[in-house]
Amino acid sequence: MEPPLKVPDPQTAEGLLLDAATLNPGAWVDHSRHVALAARHIAAAHPHLDPARAYTLGLLHDIGRRTGPNRDRHLLDGYDFLTALDHTDARIALTHAFVILDMDTLQGDWDGTPQEWQRLEGLVNSAQQTDEDRLIQLCDMLGLADGFCTVEERLMDIALRYTFNARTPDKWRAKLALKAEFDRECGGNVYRLLPGLVERLLA
Ligand SMILES: [Fe+2]
Repeated sequence: MEPPLKVPDPQTAEGLLLDAATLNPGAWVDHSRHVALAARHIAAAHPHLDPARAYTLGLLHDIGRRTGPNRDRHLLDGYDFLTALDHTDARIALTHAFVILDMDTLQGDWDGTPQEWQRLEGLVNSAQQTDEDRLIQLCDMLGLADGFCTVEERLMDIALRYTFNARTPDKWRAKLALKAEFDRECGGNVYRLLPGLVERLLA
């Protein structure tokens, strides 16, 4: 079985996010906080996941935005940034974007060099995934800058801000399936675990 990711403590992760927010302020910072909170709430209801680790991974998943404004190269920049830290596994910076481990499913235009694309492709093709990677893939779909959202709302948010391609329907199916898997694993609809979401939907 794949060994667990090495993660810093939540306070360290919070400091890294604050530093990154100074370098590149934007909606991505509060998105990251909501992803982290969603991950903590869902992990608390999941039989195998640790809420504190989940929270930390949520805070750090988009840390590659620190070099932005950037697009998909934030994946590689985040991987390189976390790799340079002590006692930190960098994989979450990559895997959060690949509910299907295939470069063709990246949604936007590549904003790095061809060599960087090849390096990212090599890393993605060899990436292992655990329940923690799956959790952050799901929670990346459950957090907007101003609060929690449904997977469908977030899919629309991404499609309108970026674009879509021939693989987008596959990716949407995989994300909806992931949500259904976590519903089963957590014993009920995970939307109920996110404070205020169901109330907003019914208002
Ligand atoms: Fe994200």
